[in-house]
Amino acid sequence: MTQQQVYPVNETFKKRALIDRAQYDAMYAESIRDPDAFWGKHGKRLDWMKPYTKVKNTTYDYDNLSIKWYEDGELNAAANCLDRHLEKRGDKTALIFEGDEPSVSRHVSYRELHEEVSKFANVLKSLGVNKGDVVTIYMPMIVETAVAMLACARIGAIHSVVFGGFSPEALGARIENGKSRFVITADEGVRGGRKIPLKANVDKSLEGSNVPAVDSVVVVTRTHADIDWKDGRDVRYEELMKDASSDCPPEPMNAEDPLFMLYTSGSTGTPKGVLHTTGGYLVYTSMTHEYVFDYQENDVYWCTADFGWITGHSYILYGPLVNGATTVIFEGVPNYPDASRFGQVVDKHRINVLYTAPTAVRALMAQGDDCMAGTTRDSLHILGTVGEPINPEAWEWYHRVIGNSNCPIVDTWWQTETGGILITPLPGATDLKPGSATLPFFGIQPAVVDSDGNVLEGKTEGNLVILDSWPGQMRTIFGDHERFKQTYFSTYKGTYFTGDGVRRDEDGYYWITGRVDDVLNVSGHRLGTAEVESALVSHDKVAEAAVVGYPHEIKGQGIYVYVTLVGGAEPTEELRQELVQTVRQEIGPLASPDVIQWAPGLPKTRSGKIMRRILRKIAANEHDQLGDTSTLADPGVVDELIEHRAFQ
Ligand code: WT7
Repeated sequence: MTQQQVYPVNETFKKRALIDRAQYDAMYAESIRDPDAFWGKHGKRLDWMKPYTKVKNTTYDYDNLSIKWYEDGELNAAANCLDRHLEKRGDKTALIFEGDEPSVSRHVSYRELHEEVSKFANVLKSLGVNKGDVVTIYMPMIVETAVAMLACARIGAIHSVVFGGFSPEALGARIENGKSRFVITADEGVRGGRKIPLKANVDKSLEGSNVPAVDSVVVVTRTHADIDWKDGRDVRYEELMKDASSDCPPEPMNAEDPLFMLYTSGSTGTPKGVLHTTGGYLVYTSMTHEYVFDYQENDVYWCTADFGWITGHSYILYGPLVNGATTVIFEGVPNYPDASRFGQVVDKHRINVLYTAPTAVRALMAQGDDCMAGTTRDSLHILGTVGEPINPEAWEWYHRVIGNSNCPIVDTWWQTETGGILITPLPGATDLKPGSATLPFFGIQPAVVDSDGNVLEGKTEGNLVILDSWPGQMRTIFGDHERFKQTYFSTYKGTYFTGDGVRRDEDGYYWITGRVDDVLNVSGHRLGTAEVESALVSHDKVAEAAVVGYPHEIKGQGIYVYVTLVGGAEPTEELRQELVQTVRQEIGPLASPDVIQWAPGLPKTRSGKIMRRILRKIAANEHDQLGDTSTLADPGVVDELIEHRAFQ
């Protein structure tokens, strides 16, 4: 193996950095030695309506599982994002909206955002939204999405944002699971020059027989498209806002009251509503935002994620706004109108921090170095990545081309479930190794276990678990606490199981190797193989389907599908396209299969379990490393699959 390249802490950056390596070591040690004292102190970064007297009350003991932080404190998330900045930062820009078309942008100050949120909070109340109600938000990346989320927080409603790329079916399932009686949407979204029929999708989603009656659908005007209107249910955002009062005192919430839920995919069954609460989540996201991005008062910060994912919640909205930052909402995509867009936006708004996904970096890298031509990006001082492992080659390109060889890169590992970043470099403290998420954040105790749950020491490889709770951790799966316990705390008793594989090197650096369960990571988007399979078998010509991931140059992982047809069905190109359509309809375009292989049979054990390990090897073109196939019911199936492996 070649010597791993190390990038020592950037000397120029060191001068401005909030903390150096010695301070990181000291703070980390303190956070582990006495979590109560540590988090008790740092909890004060928020404005509390009623101060907490208790800090940490958690146990991972399976039978008594309990996760509570700051449990007797009261606060309001919107007040922490807005009200408390009014005095010092009222005129400061809170949000920069950068539209899909490069000619469109808009600054919203803290005062303006406070007013808009207060008004919309009153609108929600007038529609009958109460504290504890679930409000579904199916929106493009526009200012009103932030307003909607914060307005929910202001009155204690639980927002459930559904990514605008999900299909009506997927949206309906989430509305139903959350028993949500309110939906906020836009007439259409606009992305990369294309329109997305959001309101029409909402209409379709509510036609499903299982979806409960929704009281109101609030429609924000984005494109003035001609849309269907259901009187008595549909209401216009702009109409309601006209007369709304901007006086709406924030609702005092217990630290452990829910702030939001967000659906994510697991290895089995339907997506789960990950529930986050108020106090610990805000302490953790604001603190990680400050230290990981070395956030200081005048920085302009851009995270390119979508509000539909946890990154959009924690690091476009809540973390930055609690810190009084200027945060960018980007409606578009990296390659529209052309591949220099990221550079253009950085120059236009003099952006200091750019936080994006490896898949975006790889897509730009594929365009060649001159895709950034015409831009200087000289305002940047930190780059970040999230969502999937970044291959060293893409890391180097990001560093050299986008960052002018001048910016530390923070490779941040975390999950929807973790609420905030758990393993990451701190830019003024950590020497970097391309491809490694490096070291744990304060309070995080990662451990590597073997398949029996034995904790492995030193340089090693295995499954990644976390030994103790941190404030930003999810509290339950909405409506299914048993599944929560089962999914995260039963595999390796006494620990939180992440579902990821990991390697730890001689310097104690962590290298995430990818999921060890049946979860795919396609362009940084998480999908369960079971979800895609169930979409496929909903087609009447499909008898059985097995879905695995395979290495994909841009997406990280692509979706490889093995399909067994019902007797008499012909494997035609037309049927192949129909199956792709079926998946897009059931889940959304993000789940489109890349490869479909017709499989007369699937490799199964004698008890009928599909051996995915073998299917993964065939998909990856590594069928010379199949391993033990002696437990197969019919080993001949494998030869047939290898012989007819779909061309990529
Ligand atoms: C899974 C979580 C956290 C926001 C976006 C994804 C993978 C995430 C990294 C990273 C390697 C990463 C893991 C994790 N992942 N960040 N820096 N290096 N892998 O959130 O949709 O909940 O997915 O994404 O496999 O388990 P998510």
